Amino acid sequence: MEVVIVPDAAAGGELIAEAMADLLRRKPDALLGVATGSTPLPIYEALAAKVRSAEVDPSRARICQLDEYVGLPAGHPESYRSVVLREVVDPLGLTEDSFMGPDGSAEDVAAACTAYDRALGEAGGVDLQLLGIGTDGHIGFNEPCSSLASRTRIKTLTERTRNDNARFFDSLDEVPHHVITQGIGTILEARHLVLLATGEAKADAVALAVEGPLSALVPASALQLHPHATVVVDEAAASRL
Ligand code: GLP
Repeated sequence: MEVVIVPDAAAGGELIAEAMADLLRRKPDALLGVATGSTPLPIYEALAAKVRSAEVDPSRARICQLDEYVGLPAGHPESYRSVVLREVVDPLGLTEDSFMGPDGSAEDVAAACTAYDRALGEAGGVDLQLLGIGTDGHIGFNEPCSSLASRTRIKTLTERTRNDNARFFDSLDEVPHHVITQGIGTILEARHLVLLATGEAKADAVALAVEGPLSALVPASALQLHPHATVVVDEAAASRL
């Protein structure tokens, strides 16, 4: 695992956007796995700026989702499908045709999970998967105690994660209890894992993931198993390393 400490979130965003641009220059139809939350926004802004200045052409890129809420109505602004379309796909000038994600409003959620897991493999696998980290060490929505070999499946959110994510909704009651997430085993199949963590609130989770033992209690520690994992942290998130 490579750990890169940057001065601030903007520098982390620029570094990772350049890695994504570099990948697209080498492999124009790369499958990019993207994450949601506040942390990756500087990455998407920096990548969109590179597109505007013609440093990279993303027109053949493919984008895939890491996780999704279950049960939000289609088109809900906080479904991760909506978020990824708004924050990544549109700014890069792509269309929904280049985008894949699990169906969080499916009647048979288990079947939707299996179908998405299979679809990722059939698409040739994820070339670069962006990850954030939850304050409890989760990646995607793999909460503590998730199996390190898990596949895409339905999970129940902890109250801590529901509280962390309540800021995106009008009230805590609106935050779904169930989600679909790529499993840890699924995530580990991506060719390159890039985790960005910024801010002091992530410092404990980062220290446990990077320097603690490999443990299902800290899902992000699974990156220690991956042959090509990059952890980018700002000074605040690195403060307990
Ligand atoms: C959610 C997402 C994760 C993300 C995490 C942290 O739980 N499912 O993929 O990493 O939030 O979000 P933030 O970057 O806003 O702290």
